[in-house]
This record gives sequence, C-alpha cells and structure tokens, in this order.
Amino acid sequence: MTTFPALHRLLAAAALVAGATTAQAATITIACGASAPEIEHCWKHAEAWARKTGHTVRNYTQPASATAALAVYRQLFAAKSSDIDIIRVDVIWPGILKDHLLDLKPYSLGQEAEHFPALVANSTIGGRLLGMPWYTDTGLLYYRADLLAKYKRPAPTTWAELAATAAIVQAGERAAGQKDFQGFVFQAKSGESLTCNAVEWIASFGGGRLVDERGDITINNPQAVRALATAAQWVGSISSVGVLNYAEEDARGVFQNGQALFMRNWPYAWSLLESPDSVVRGKVGVSPLPKGDGPGARHAGTLGGWQLAVSKYSKHPEVAADLVMHMASAAVQKDRAIRGSFNPTRPALYKDPQVVAANSFMASLLGTFEDSVARPSGEAGLKYPSVSLALSNAAHDVLGRKATPEAAVRKLEGQLKLVRRERW
Ligand code: GLC
Repeated sequence: MTTFPALHRLLAAAALVAGATTAQAATITIACGASAPEIEHCWKHAEAWARKTGHTVRNYTQPASATAALAVYRQLFAAKSSDIDIIRVDVIWPGILKDHLLDLKPYSLGQEAEHFPALVANSTIGGRLLGMPWYTDTGLLYYRADLLAKYKRPAPTTWAELAATAAIVQAGERAAGQKDFQGFVFQAKSGESLTCNAVEWIASFGGGRLVDERGDITINNPQAVRALATAAQWVGSISSVGVLNYAEEDARGVFQNGQALFMRNWPYAWSLLESPDSVVRGKVGVSPLPKGDGPGARHAGTLGGWQLAVSKYSKHPEVAADLVMHMASAAVQKDRAIRGSFNPTRPALYKDPQVVAANSFMASLLGTFEDSVARPSGEAGLKYPSVSLALSNAAHDVLGRKATPEAAVRKLEGQLKLVRRERW
C-alpha cells in the first residue's frame, strides 16, 4: 500500500503555493481495520480525501482481535502518543477510552443527527461526542441454502432445530466424501468474539445480559446455564473441537470453502461470501440467530460495530476530524455497504435501492439490527474488559469441558462481584 504517493505531495505543495489550502498539509494516520478487505474498503476513501484536501494519509493496521486492539490503544494513550490520529473504536469502548478521545461536536456540525440515535448515544459521554458512528454490526446466521434444499430442511429458528439439521447434513456430506464438513462454525476462541457469541446464547434463552440496567449481576440463572450447556453440546458433534480456536475469519474461511452448513458471523462476511472467487457464491442465505427455549426465549444478536474517533494526542485534531466526517458521510457509508456489506449507521441508507440490492438482508433484517443485545459495557464502564474476560473464560471452560455450566456461572458471578466491588 502506497502511503506517500509522490504525486500527492506535489499536488499538496502546489495547492499550498496557490493558496488553495489554508491549513498546512498534515499527515494523518488512521486505523482502517484489521483484515485486508476491511483496509481496502477504508483506504480508498481515505486516499480520495487526501487527494481532495492535499493532506497525506497513513494506514495503521489494527490487531485482528478486538481484545488485542484495545490493549494497543490503551498503551498508546498511556504514553500520550500522537502516532495514531484516528482510532477505530468498538461500540463497547467509549466508556473505557473516554478520557483520551476528542469531543467531535465542534467539527460534526450536527451531522450525528443523521445516524441511529442509539449509536450516537453510545458514543456520547458527559455531553461529549467521542466518535462518529461508522458501521453497525449484529450477529447473524449464515446458511447454505443449496444444502438445506438438498436435505429438504427449513432454515432453523431454534438452536434445537439448528443442531438437528446440522447433524443430518454433516453426516450426509461426510458420507459423500467431505470428511471435514462441519454442521456449525462460530467463534469460540477466548476473547471478545467469544464474549459476543456467549451473550447471544444466554440472551436467546432468556438468561439476561450478565448485568442488568441497574448494574445488578444476573448471570447465575438457570437459563444462562441451559444456554452454555446447549453450546457445549455442539463442540465435538456438529462443530469440530477446532472451533475453540476460531475467531471470525477462521469461521468464514471454513464456511467460504464450502466446509460448513451454518455459520455465525457479522454482516461483513456477506460481501466476501458473494465475491467472484467464493465457492459458496449464490448459495448462501442469512437469517436471525436461532432462539433458545424456556421463558424469555428470543432471537438475539449481539450489538457490535465501530466508530471513528480522534485521539486527544493527535497533532492535527482539526484535520483528523475532517477525515472522520468524510468517512462517516452518506456517500462513503453507501459505497462501503454496497462493496463491503458494512451496515450503515445512517437509517436513510437502509432504503437506498443500491444498498438493498447488494445486501437484501439489510432491509429484511432491519428489525434484527434494531433489537440487538448490548454487551454490558455501558453499565461496567472502565471495568468492562474484566467482565468480558471473565465471561469469555467461563464460556471457553464450559465448551472445552473443563467446567460444568452450573459451576462456570457460579464462579463467573463471584468474579463479577469482585470486579464490581461497591459499584461499577
Ligand atoms: C465485530 C464487532 C465488534 C466486536 C468484535 C468482536 O468487529 O463489530 O463490536 O467487539 O466483532 O470480535
């Protein structure tokens, strides 16, 4: 990736000489994403902005795991480093990073009103707008429509149906020669992605979201136990034991290779599954994640997504904020939705015919996006990383048969109480 095209520098210099640019040309480092496709769908817009403004952009490739990325940013902020101007902020981070992010209100000129209010509220702390919503996520179920038709099975609406169908199709496909075929792939590697999966299982069984709106710890309940017990049954049956080491891209790789019937993943996977070289192109359907059973059972996808924020330690806050506004604009979000299936944070784009033509699920599953389950980051604030780590470890122990679900939620409750102490 060329970050300093000579031509840009010449143009920038010419613009300065001509007086077309009042501010001095700056170099802005932006965290465009972790994977190559994420960076590609960000970088071209950053470069377009650089061409227009005469500034220079540099990409910072963030670690693939959200947990690792947060650790990097916290180190950077602790050192008050100006190395990265624009940070990609996970929906769960504003409460953690709030002291290090610039208030964007003076630069946004009210543009935040064009985004989903819940996302703007999530990025606003103490009246300060700490990030511009960039794209929103929820957990979805991807399925092989061709295989469901072959085995005459409907798309599942409950986890029990998913497991039954996965077992039948896995047995059939393995017998037909696909020895490594898996019924269901998801993310069970320790870290934030497993936290997201576990929150979905627990909420789908009516087991709450660990901590309720009042800050009370609710995890030790029979429905949470049922949820974890259900997921544990998948490992070694409809999912290979290897799933304990899968993050998003591992699951996508298996599914996109035609080696799985069902996959839990975020919307970004759609554009890749539909890419010209994809083995499963034209064969995939998308639905809400299945429900559990018992009181309060529901379809539950974890709310994810990313904002763009300016570091308080940036040497060029005004210029960086200008790039953030460009990236969060309707035109850029539209292009990213069409080409990368990144869900816009602007409700108006869900009615855009080109966006809908490229991603029919965005319109048909709008309710699923609106009903997403938030992780308890708002309640836990600065303590959220410890909450997430405790949940991810508990889930990993249950899936790996190192703990019973009952013992795991009991221990988790104790750990959360220790983390909270008097208050969150
Ligand atoms: C996605 C979500 C983000 C979540 C992460 C976990 O990127 O948008 O909110 O924390 O996955 O892997």
